[in-house]
Amino acid sequence: MKQLLSILMSVFMIMLSSSCSSELTDEAAVSDTAESNTTIRSEYSEDTSYGTSDTVSSSYESNILVAYFSCTGTTAQIADWIADKTGGDKYEIIPETPYTEDDLNYNNSASRANKEQADSSARPAISNSVDNMEQYDVIFLGYPIWHGQAPRIISTFLESYDFSDVTIIPFCTSHSSDIGSSAENLHSLCSDTANWLEGKRFSGNAAEDDITQWIDSLELPKSEGNVMDVGEFNFETKTVLLNSGYEMPIMGLGTYSLTDEECAVSIEALLEAGGRLIDTAYMYGNEAAVGQAIRNSDVPREEIFVITKLYPTQFDHAAEAIDEALERMGLDYIDMILLHHPGDGDVEAYLALEQAVADGKVHSIGLSNWYIEELDEFLPQVNITPALVQNEIHPYYQENDVIPYIQSLGIVVQGWYPLGGRGHTSELLNDETITAIAESHNVSSAQVILRWNLQKGVVVIPGSSDPEHIRENLDLFGFELTDSEMNDINALDRNEKHDWY
Ligand SMILES: Cc1cc2nc3c(=O)[nH]c(=O)nc-3n(C[C@H](O)[C@H](O)[C@H](O)COP(=O)(O)O)c2cc1C
Repeated sequence: MKQLLSILMSVFMIMLSSSCSSELTDEAAVSDTAESNTTIRSEYSEDTSYGTSDTVSSSYESNILVAYFSCTGTTAQIADWIADKTGGDKYEIIPETPYTEDDLNYNNSASRANKEQADSSARPAISNSVDNMEQYDVIFLGYPIWHGQAPRIISTFLESYDFSDVTIIPFCTSHSSDIGSSAENLHSLCSDTANWLEGKRFSGNAAEDDITQWIDSLELPKSEGNVMDVGEFNFETKTVLLNSGYEMPIMGLGTYSLTDEECAVSIEALLEAGGRLIDTAYMYGNEAAVGQAIRNSDVPREEIFVITKLYPTQFDHAAEAIDEALERMGLDYIDMILLHHPGDGDVEAYLALEQAVADGKVHSIGLSNWYIEELDEFLPQVNITPALVQNEIHPYYQENDVIPYIQSLGIVVQGWYPLGGRGHTSELLNDETITAIAESHNVSSAQVILRWNLQKGVVVIPGSSDPEHIRENLDLFGFELTDSEMNDINALDRNEKHDWY
């Protein structure tokens, strides 16, 4: 019997080692990537942060932290998706001594990982920490399976904090092993009152949908009340939630062509009438006036949402240009900066905007005058999905293919020239279809056009220096266009662009 058992064990060990070897072959094939991933991960260790998404609205009641350890990126990818789906903060457990490829060689019993796994008292040191762990009540805990168990660094992590009354949801990635006893074996490292849910193993081929389904199946308590989805217009608060986590008013004032004096008067009228969104640009030459008007106002700064833009002539010194805009406007931060239109060095300029977000100088970033082809080329080259794309949109130039495409990317669309633009406003406002609809609702043509935009999910920033018009342009919520009226306006499209961008 003993002999039989020993034969069976040997066969099992051979099977295990051949499965590991086949993985090693896979890994060897991608060793460059694996190695560079390892390097990149440790380079990020300095500023790898949790709490970076604290402004992102979560539809879950709990404060969620996605804590994970990953040497070659597989677990990190799952952690990203969990954080995206739950709105949780991310914390990567970074070893004080990064694991090299040799350290991870599981075919060598003397490799660092193998030695640690064989020693139940091994506690590899962690180089970073979570300062505010007590704020989290749900922890997703991710790790790769190492010889059927969680790497010992997970033990270090669990013993470093008090997880009393915290819900812990383990997840792991592996070549072929299931989660097995790896999670249960961690329970004893935490307070008895930690609430461990059943864990889940994902393969390296897992897709985002698998993660979504799993998280939905956990039935974590959702927040009560009105939680907005990204891109959804809330007609009560008159705001939209951006993918950056910030809310932005859905109508405001465009300041193109407003001189300094007009700017001051117009912004005063806007703010007095309850408008809170102001659009300017370096190219308009009135950033200073806009900033001054904001600073002069009694409205608290945080209630106002100001957008400015970098012009292509600034792209080659974008970081400096952002600082100059802040200085010209006299503001501590700018709510949103867009690239004014595509041009040489736009990717680098956008990367400078990303850095400005990291530095807290800018809250959200986006693009102006980018269409489908331009977006397809641009987006893979940047890290932060734009929160907004601002394009020419009016009933004679509707962009009916572009708008849904941009929205499908989780990007909010904003229309400039909503009333047709200079030289074209009169024709548009006197369009028979529009005047008839306006009469039936007892509103102006401008209000009909702006409301049509809002019902299509397009944010509007009509330009005006007339306080009366500014007030009227904000008064868009006392009536609603019927489906048939929306269709009648949709039918006016002539694909007629009124500016060159
Ligand atoms: C030391 C070591 C031991 C491993 N042991 C197993 C194992 O027992 N079963 C298995 O299916 N995969 C095993 N693997 C493969 C990893 O679990 C798998 O590649 C994992 O997805 C890597 O995650 P990461 O990219 O986040 O580091 C092992 C890998 C290493 C480095």
